Amino acid sequence: MNITITGASGLIGRRLLKNLGASGHVLTVLSRHAGTNVPPGVGVAAWDPMKGPPPEDGIRNANAVIHLAGEPVAQRWSGDVKRRIRESRVVGTRNLVQSLARLRNPPQTLICASAVGYYGSRGDEVLREDSAPDHTFLAEVCRAWEEEAAAAEEFAIRVVRVRIGVVLDARGGALQRMLPPFRLGLGGKLGDGKQWMSWIHLADLAAMFQFAVENPVRGVFNGVAPIPVTNADFTQALARVLHRPAIFPVPVLGLKLLFGEMSEVLLASQRILPAAAEAAGFKFRFPELGGALSDLLGK
Ligand SMILES: NC(=O)c1ccc[n+]([C@@H]2O[C@H](COP(=O)([O-])OP(=O)(O)OC[C@H]3O[C@@H](n4cnc5c(N)ncnc54)[C@H](OP(=O)(O)O)[C@@H]3O)[C@@H](O)[C@H]2O)c1
Repeated sequence: MNITITGASGLIGRRLLKNLGASGHVLTVLSRHAGTNVPPGVGVAAWDPMKGPPPEDGIRNANAVIHLAGEPVAQRWSGDVKRRIRESRVVGTRNLVQSLARLRNPPQTLICASAVGYYGSRGDEVLREDSAPDHTFLAEVCRAWEEEAAAAEEFAIRVVRVRIGVVLDARGGALQRMLPPFRLGLGGKLGDGKQWMSWIHLADLAAMFQFAVENPVRGVFNGVAPIPVTNADFTQALARVLHRPAIFPVPVLGLKLLFGEMSEVLLASQRILPAAAEAAGFKFRFPELGGALSDLLGK
């Protein structure tokens, strides 16, 4: 299959390039940096999602498009950062979908990233794909981003939106940022640690994207493992795998001072199940946290 991927230089995209390439798919990357480093045999075309439509030679032959590009969320949110977080996704997805619709032969499939931020913070409530969205900044961004992606259905493109949870990988993302303090024995739960974390091993998330490309599924997939944990349990599991204590809780006020409004992402309680992917037959390699952390941290 010919697959075009945006945001392929990021954490998830790099793994997808590796896996999809190994499965024999022919890959093209759309990146803001035309000189971006890609594996041999992968095509590259320059595209800045906020600035207009992608070049036709980057999408013309695609059977499927995987859309991951977006301004990083894990940073302090100034007014300008919030604008870029929203526009890179909402305007970027609109620019992409309009271009796909104009092609003589549009791709059959669009897989678009979204985030569990869609649900906001919901205490102990069990959330599935049909749970209502929240009204926080990130929830509104996710809702608008998904709406732009779903518009491709009007052009007979099969659309899957993947609401991604906390992606675990030792060399990037949230886990990599947590490792230094935990390795020093200075890790700890965030606040009272009662908030639910919906995590997923990067290998399972990449496999879920590939499953969505290769099978006739559509709609929303929660990109999370089937066994969410509380932040306190996550902290203990990580400390156990690293053979370190984790006894110093991080105070909520400190997180708010350090990260401002973005701290709502770190403190959100999200108990989410991957109901749609499991119903479609997707099988997790790492359904429970201990196994995922042992695999990632080599213990
Ligand atoms: N990792 C997670 O835990 C997680 C959780 C929930 C949702 N997600 C979502 O999944 C998608 C991929 O995640 P990731 O962790 O792989 O992201 P990432 O490592 O931050 O990479 C995203 C890619 O998007 C492009 N990009 C960055 N800033 C941009 C901007 N201002 N405008 C347009 N493009 C921009 C970059 O590609 P180029 O430089 O090549 O253009 C970058 O490599 C993102 O949309 C993210 O929000 C991720």
